[in-house]
Amino acid sequence: MQINTDIELLKEFEKGLDPEHPEKSKIPARILGYGEISTIFEIDSPATRNLACKRMPIFQSREEIEHYARIYNDYNNILQKEIGINVPDFGFVWFAAADGKIVAFDLQRKLPAESIGNRAIHLLDKENIRALFLCVLRELMKVWSFNKAEPERALGIDGQISNWSIMDFNAENPHINSATKLLYIDTSTPLMKKNAAEQLDPELFLRSAPSFLRWLIRWLFLEGVMTRYYDARLVTIDLIANFYKEQRPELVPLLIDAANVFYRTEGGKLNLAPFTEKEISAYYREDKTIWIVFLALRRLDRWLHKYILRKPYVYILPGKIRR
Ligand SMILES: Nc1ncnc2c1ncn2[C@@H]1O[C@H](COP(=O)(O)OP(=O)(O)O)[C@@H](O)[C@H]1O
Ligand SMILES: [Mg+2]
Repeated sequence: MQINTDIELLKEFEKGLDPEHPEKSKIPARILGYGEISTIFEIDSPATRNLACKRMPIFQSREEIEHYARIYNDYNNILQKEIGINVPDFGFVWFAAADGKIVAFDLQRKLPAESIGNRAIHLLDKENIRALFLCVLRELMKVWSFNKAEPERALGIDGQISNWSIMDFNAENPHINSATKLLYIDTSTPLMKKNAAEQLDPELFLRSAPSFLRWLIRWLFLEGVMTRYYDARLVTIDLIANFYKEQRPELVPLLIDAANVFYRTEGGKLNLAPFTEKEISAYYREDKTIWIVFLALRRLDRWLHKYILRKPYVYILPGKIRR
């Protein structure tokens, strides 16, 4: 279902926004979560309560944003209607803010905090976490099958545990089994192909990075980050390695075992080589460095804007992230 909201209110919100301290904005906002490249919050007003708003101040022209709006819609619809992965009700709005800057908001129905995978794994026991992990692998299989059948229209997906919400999750009595349904929430990075050509402009990721270092980031990281989400083996490694970041490293061996069993049986047609703990931890070390460096550079850029360039800094940066 499409979500509509009061665009005037979002304009007011944008006008009074304090990106460095979003909770102190004229219309206050509560942060729901941090991703690696954005901040998701709930704006405190009757029209926007129960919505998860993802603010994106990265677009530079009308063409750019209209293209993004199209692929964001397509991505949600293909996942839901063609691939069979549930997504929350969603919407998209954009406008030119007072200074001419274009601002977009991805909107989603807000889901219960404890139903989001990275919270749920702190409420579930080992057997239920294994079951949850298998549910995620099954959802991902739907994408790999679609991509195999229609490589020209392949979708990329980020399987990390924080990108899934457990439907009808009961935090008091949490149980997961093979009938448990999941929702995929991380649809604001619509990696997808049309006629075999990537539709999402990788440069968008770089907009929030300091301009003086974009060439370096482009050269070091971008290619890898853009292609890993189409690769079943890498997405699985990323999902397992994510448990280190989410402070449950002791689960990694169990997940490796579950993945190896899964790809020998249900997922056998992918012919993936078995996973080892060594490669998962090596991958995590590298990935962690990428994101730590990226965030540190953005903080530096914010500092430069404030004290040296004396220009407004429009991005909301996460606070300290435990890894
Ligand atoms: N619809 C939602 N309801 C509740 N929380 C959400 C919702 N969407 C995102 N979040 C929170 O924000 C975090 C990051 O959101 P996500 O869409 O994965 O963004 P990113 O692309 O930056 O990773 C999620 O892990 C979750 O904690
Ligand atoms: Mg995410």
